Amino acid sequence: MSAIRTSSIRLKTALPGPRSRELGERRAAAVPRGVGHSTPIYAASARGALLTDVDGNVLIDFAGGIGTLNVGHANPEVVRAAAAQLERFTHTCFSVAPYEGYVALAERLNAIAPGKQPKKTFLANSGAEALENAVKIARHATGREAVVVFDHAFHGRTLLTMTMTSKVRPYKYGFGPFAPEVYRLPFPYEYRGRYAGAAAAAASLEEFFKTQVAAEKVACVVIELVLGEGGFVVAPKEYVATLARLCREHGILLVVDEVQTGFGRTGRMFACDHYGLEPDLVTLAKSLAGGLPLSAVTGRADVMDSAQVGGLGGTYAGNPVSCAAALAAVDFIEKNRLPERAEAIGRAVEARFRGFVERFPFVGDARGLGAMRALELVKDKATREPDKERTDRVIQRAYESGLVLVGAGTFGNVIRTLMPLVITDDELAEGLDVLEHALEKA
Ligand SMILES: Cc1ncc(COP(=O)(O)O)c(C=O)c1O
Repeated sequence: MSAIRTSSIRLKTALPGPRSRELGERRAAAVPRGVGHSTPIYAASARGALLTDVDGNVLIDFAGGIGTLNVGHANPEVVRAAAAQLERFTHTCFSVAPYEGYVALAERLNAIAPGKQPKKTFLANSGAEALENAVKIARHATGREAVVVFDHAFHGRTLLTMTMTSKVRPYKYGFGPFAPEVYRLPFPYEYRGRYAGAAAAAASLEEFFKTQVAAEKVACVVIELVLGEGGFVVAPKEYVATLARLCREHGILLVVDEVQTGFGRTGRMFACDHYGLEPDLVTLAKSLAGGLPLSAVTGRADVMDSAQVGGLGGTYAGNPVSCAAALAAVDFIEKNRLPERAEAIGRAVEARFRGFVERFPFVGDARGLGAMRALELVKDKATREPDKERTDRVIQRAYESGLVLVGAGTFGNVIRTLMPLVITDDELAEGLDVLEHALEKA
């Protein structure tokens, strides 16, 4: 491929354009540098999978607010529901004067979350806050303190969730000391030789409970079934089954972090559904409320009910506007069968990505689940040495041609796709053409 034909992408200026550059200067003076960004264009409006910047450039969005926009930018049904709620009341605090939206959303999530057992739901604001609360609930319910997490995990940026997160730079470096009683297992990362089958995994898990922390002290194991920030590595089914069995045997609660995988992204409503897994708790956020801040812990009613009255909450937790948006977003996902659409998107992307592995000597691996797909870039296919520099160049070139992409991976060498699931076939093909062109030029 030599030139790209674009029809959705419309570039009026070189990127970033003059208005974006001006805002970039104001930002540099007003916002701390620690708040990073992957593309220096400033958004003016967005619809579906298209983003228009302040200079009038239209870009295709393969990042979707890092997986927050499965229902698309400014989804009209979500906007209508949120606007109607804004007119009724903006906030009362659920712990002061409760409202139906919170209860209705809890009922809805209890019905659709993985597992047949009776469930309850607590609502919070961000993914990190959901993880914090899942650990609080698991500790209270078990009377145990230890939390087991994985290499390459990302669970958030608060003190506990930063501790649970694996990648040192930029997420942890200089921010310690960290929270106590957090232990880490290797994630079964097949491409990097970290998985040798279920029997070996079971043996090393048993060894972990002898060398790192006693199983009877562990409140919960927290796992992403597909690593998000860690680079879209899919946990093998037998590994997950072994882990779930050992958790059950040792009275350890299994918490599945579905913040990035949830709400159709993987081709099922939840990644757990691929595994036939019934976790004790799941954490949800991102696409839950179609772009508004909201998160949830949903799980076994007996576990969720453990904490004392007043032990869970937060001023904005379960804000009514976000609840209204979430009810509309979940309706939209179900009505429009977005999980099936994610499967179809995933098939199209996978076909192109397999071609990239064959064509480019530096594309080492293509993987994923549903529409959650990734390329891992290496310096050499034999040594698999990560190539972060080339990955950054690909993302840069793609954005200069009008495609917004985000990277991932502990080594910074993964390109991931998190496009809104309402993306049209033409937009998807055009975005993939731009990505291929960027790979050629980088
Ligand atoms: C799997 C996972 N868990 C937790 C979080 C943290 O969510 P938030 O940024 O809303 O706190 C993220 C964010 O990317 C995530 O991908």
